[in-house]
Amino acid sequence: MIYLDNAATTLHKPPEVAAAVVSAMSELGNAGRGAYGASLDGARTIYKVRALLAEFFGAGDPRRIVFTCNSTESLNIALKGLLKPGDHAITTQLEHNSVLRPLYELQKQGVGLTIVQADRLGRVDYADFERAITPQTRLIAATHASNLTGNMLDIARIGEITHRHGLLLVVDASQTAGEVPVDAGQLLADVLCFTGHKGLMGPQGTGGMYVRPGVEIRPLLSGGTGVQSYLKTQPPQMPERLEAGTLNGHGIAGLGAAVRFIMDTGIGKVQAKEQSLMRRFYEGVRGIPGVTVYGDFEAKLRCPIVALNIRGRDSGEVSDALFTEYGIAVRPGAHCAPLMHEALGTKEQGAVRFSFSYYNTEEETDAAIRAVRALAREEET
Ligand code: ALA
Repeated sequence: MIYLDNAATTLHKPPEVAAAVVSAMSELGNAGRGAYGASLDGARTIYKVRALLAEFFGAGDPRRIVFTCNSTESLNIALKGLLKPGDHAITTQLEHNSVLRPLYELQKQGVGLTIVQADRLGRVDYADFERAITPQTRLIAATHASNLTGNMLDIARIGEITHRHGLLLVVDASQTAGEVPVDAGQLLADVLCFTGHKGLMGPQGTGGMYVRPGVEIRPLLSGGTGVQSYLKTQPPQMPERLEAGTLNGHGIAGLGAAVRFIMDTGIGKVQAKEQSLMRRFYEGVRGIPGVTVYGDFEAKLRCPIVALNIRGRDSGEVSDALFTEYGIAVRPGAHCAPLMHEALGTKEQGAVRFSFSYYNTEEETDAAIRAVRALAREEET
């Protein structure tokens, strides 16, 4: 199988990742719950990964890194813990349902919402953010990159707006963490949410968030922390304030190995390889008669994603044909990005998304180009 669904989850991980999970499963106790070796090892492992992620995301203090199961959980914690009825939030048409659905839920509770629109190439007009600000605006929630087109938003430019207006910036880095350098300080992010299983190449069920010092988030969950057990509320200090219950220590150990691999390899090298495969694929398919490619390929930086359609053929059918006839795995349909499909005019047809990882090769990319060409030719006849 040629696996080109890395924007959904990376399938091929550095071998160190599984090894770290397996050894954690036989060696680690419950972190922060005991003073014997296995429990202390659990706590040390989790702290080391926290510190590694703080370094990776330019976060400074490891205590500002909170572990969660995925970006969705992080985004729910951030949005529901920062917004209250009467507040106003701004987001974009590029967002995944992990941002949109919590915001729609909050909207029902009296939070105002403005969605900055995208054009047919999936680009936004940055002046629209400023135009949407009202005296009630509390935050802007924006994805770092669309999971459908791969277009990136200029988050630092949005951060400059939030700074100027005293707003908070919540960033969804699901598609960029591990794909391009993501530095919370440079992006001016107040909260940065990430998942472990995509570009970071860690296990599913791992993820987290960076919370800038001074940003107070009401906890979404309450429960055991292993410390201050006689308090009736979640402890005030980070990261315990936002982490209730036993952490996924085994997964976190794997995530640590994955991030260590990326740091040792160099994010620049990972990025260069993925960008080159994505551009090679784009150049190979863009001129094929009947193929429509979505997104902005003029931008210097984008995620290693190419979404396309073949004439009017249903994206699910194309994806099935790619798998059954050519052994190529991609994601069709709506990609949990309903508004982005509206902007592209692909709500009914969906789109066939090819997404590349560090472990893909030029041969696989060329095979995918040939498959698209053959399917487009088939459709012509
Ligand atoms: N959010 C993931 C995707 O884009 C699952 O496919």
